[in-house]
Amino acid sequence: GESDLELITRLIRPFPDFPSKGIVFRDICPVLKNPAALAAVIDLFEQHVRQTHPLVDLVVGIDARGFLFGPLLAQRLGVGFVMVRKKGKLPGPRVSVGYTLEYGTAEAEIQEDAVSAGQKVVLIDDLLATGGTLFAACELMKQRRADVLGCLVVVELNDLSGADKLKPHSVFSLVRY
Ligand code: PRP
Ligand code: HPA
Repeated sequence: GESDLELITRLIRPFPDFPSKGIVFRDICPVLKNPAALAAVIDLFEQHVRQTHPLVDLVVGIDARGFLFGPLLAQRLGVGFVMVRKKGKLPGPRVSVGYTLEYGTAEAEIQEDAVSAGQKVVLIDDLLATGGTLFAACELMKQRRADVLGCLVVVELNDLSGADKLKPHSVFSLVRY
């Protein structure tokens, strides 16, 4: 029969030339819509974190699609979840960092009290493209003197070398193109 990874892979759809010409958009919506596939994603992330980063204190998810997987994983691991948000969305004292995207620029923020010095975090997002977004999240963790154990993504786009940009942090991905 079909493995968990085969199910996930089969459900991710390519959309050529979205949101602009030359970009093949990898759509994870069918994975979210299929309960067995969504459970399989969280199972695989949980196994990886338990084996590789057993001392994790927090799961840190990236706005917006990191929020779809991060809280589910955090609950499985029995740890808390923290949001890295786009600028202007979080109240109270914050730290910010600018970054560039596969298509555009943006600014990411966390609340100052979201992570404390010495806490061990795993970062999670749906997809790694250029790595600009996860790199910015790593910068926020560095500013708070938190320890990034690794980055988790459902999809990694190999051609854009995002994993190189994130070195020495590790990237764990389920599906690569
Ligand atoms: C996408 C994706 C990642 C990021 C990956 O989000 O969900 O967060 O881009 O690209 P990168 O590796 O080149 O930084 P996007 O910024 O499109 O925003 P959204 O989650 O709000 O749709
Ligand atoms: N798919 C989904 N989200 C993305 C992509 C993509 O190919 N590139 C950057 N964000």
